[in-house]
Amino acid sequence: MKAGIIGLGTIFWGHLRAYMENENTELYAVCDIDGEWAEYIRNKYDLPKAYSDYHELLRDPEIDLVSICLPNELHAPVTVEALDMGKHVLCEKPMAPSAADGRRMRDAELRSGKKLMISHNQRFGEDVQMLKKLFDDGYFGDVYHVRIGWRRPVGIMPSPYSVRENGTVYNRNWFHEKASHGGVLRDLGSHLIDLTMHVLGFPKLEGAFASSYRKFHPEVKPGDEDKLVFDSEDMVTGLAKFEGGLSVQMEFSFGSTVPEEVIITNVYGTKLGAVRHSSEKQLDLIRVAEDGQSFTIERAKPEDYGAIPFRHPAHGFIEAIVNDTEVPVPSDQGIKVLEILDELYKACDESNA
Ligand SMILES: NC(=O)c1ccc[n+]([C@@H]2O[C@H](COP(=O)([O-])OP(=O)(O)OC[C@H]3O[C@@H](n4cnc5c(N)ncnc54)[C@H](O)[C@@H]3O)[C@@H](O)[C@H]2O)c1
Repeated sequence: MKAGIIGLGTIFWGHLRAYMENENTELYAVCDIDGEWAEYIRNKYDLPKAYSDYHELLRDPEIDLVSICLPNELHAPVTVEALDMGKHVLCEKPMAPSAADGRRMRDAELRSGKKLMISHNQRFGEDVQMLKKLFDDGYFGDVYHVRIGWRRPVGIMPSPYSVRENGTVYNRNWFHEKASHGGVLRDLGSHLIDLTMHVLGFPKLEGAFASSYRKFHPEVKPGDEDKLVFDSEDMVTGLAKFEGGLSVQMEFSFGSTVPEEVIITNVYGTKLGAVRHSSEKQLDLIRVAEDGQSFTIERAKPEDYGAIPFRHPAHGFIEAIVNDTEVPVPSDQGIKVLEILDELYKACDESNA
């Protein structure tokens, strides 16, 4: 199958490698609004086509499937157009700015008969696979609480500028702009919310409380102070409640007054607790004794629980097309993540009003 990639920024490289490595795909075309950059990539990897207009790439009848690696606000329109043009689509996370947009994408998927997958890549981590297996096999008992977070210290916020390999600098400030549907909840939050829901089998959301803040901004070049907008949230803290009494406490920040970057995934069960050490791909498992009054702690290795090494989501997407099976991250799960984000943003608006 011939693959195309639209949007050649930071996340594009993983998609490029996956399509070049997979025996069922040929990377056929790339597209970026920065046409010189698309041409640079075409030359470097000796690809047949480079486009600066994604409509043209989608009109190319040679192309079977596309990866959409564009800023969030473009996910829905480009995905719908790609499906309507008969392409299978792997769309980067978050699926779209809102659940309503996600449903439009799902409608296009159903009417096209093509596959749509959302690239929630953190699910494929070995430690997350182990969490899911422990949950599915009933080891946790009653999971009553999950604590998730991804917080970064002020000073390493996403820069408004990024330098490409060919030396050109492009504007990447959409991460900080409300109008572009940036913000830390959609960016870092969607990762941890997806992996929590995936592990717990997508329990039904009942409601949420949340607050958002914009307290800091990244360094800007002299003269750019009035040109760049930083109005999406740099931090969100919240609590979501689910059917059956489960609560999920969360904190996400692009920059706050903390000393170091931390990713938090703690699962609280009545028989077992788990603390994820994502950088070491390991879990601490806290086993509660039968008497409920004592416990032991074990550092668990994913391979002992049958986890397979991380693979880029594109490989599962390609397999699902070849075998005509369900994609590993289906669109209805992408929509459920967006419903949680919608509820949290609504709660932020209410608490900030
Ligand atoms: N799965 C992950 O771990 C992960 C990590 C980073 C980013 N992402 C997601 O990937 C997406 C892209 O993020 P990024 O960090 O690569 O962004 P980026 O800003 O670095 O890259 C976006 C690219 O799209 C191009 N572009 C913008 N408008 C275009 C248009 N109309 N037509 C063609 N090209 C256009 C830009 O020139 C740029 O090269 C986002 O949705 C983000 O949330 C996912």
